[in-house]
Amino acid sequence: MSNTLTVNGQDHTVDVDGNMPLLWYLRDVLELTGTKYGCGMSLCGACTVHLDGNAVRSCMTPVSAAFGKKVTTIEGLSPDGSHPLQIAWIKNNVPQCGYCQAGQIMSAADLLERNPDPSLDEIHAAMQGNICRCGTYLRIRSAIQDAAKSMQEA
Ligand code: FES
Ligand code: FES
Repeated sequence: MSNTLTVNGQDHTVDVDGNMPLLWYLRDVLELTGTKYGCGMSLCGACTVHLDGNAVRSCMTPVSAAFGKKVTTIEGLSPDGSHPLQIAWIKNNVPQCGYCQAGQIMSAADLLERNPDPSLDEIHAAMQGNICRCGTYLRIRSAIQDAAKSMQEA
């Protein structure tokens, strides 16, 4: 298997140990620091990115698991920050400290890709692995509902 992966549309040849967590590769090697380290144990969701379109916890994903695949981080979700979720996040003033928010948005983007019109229960179920110490959950849910509506109207 080739040791290359694509991150936000750009190809990279990996020259680090394939066991390095994808999160370290993104943050320390590629300097894409939008993706955060929270627990390092797949428990908080702060490190969520997309791997071939599916949300994964990059803290527990070895970089070798991404070889030959496409990784999308918060920096690549939209070239100009205009993804409907990002617009809805601003409209709803979702972030407080902001630390968890990239992971929240990446999980929400995965949800809306799979389910364009989620119920509140479905939003709750899909987002329950993303912890927010600031307690922005209600605004997150409102923003996801707003984004789903605007994506349906587009
Ligand atoms: S840092 Fe990966 S789930 Fe918490
Ligand atoms: S906004 Fe502070 S942890 Fe979520």
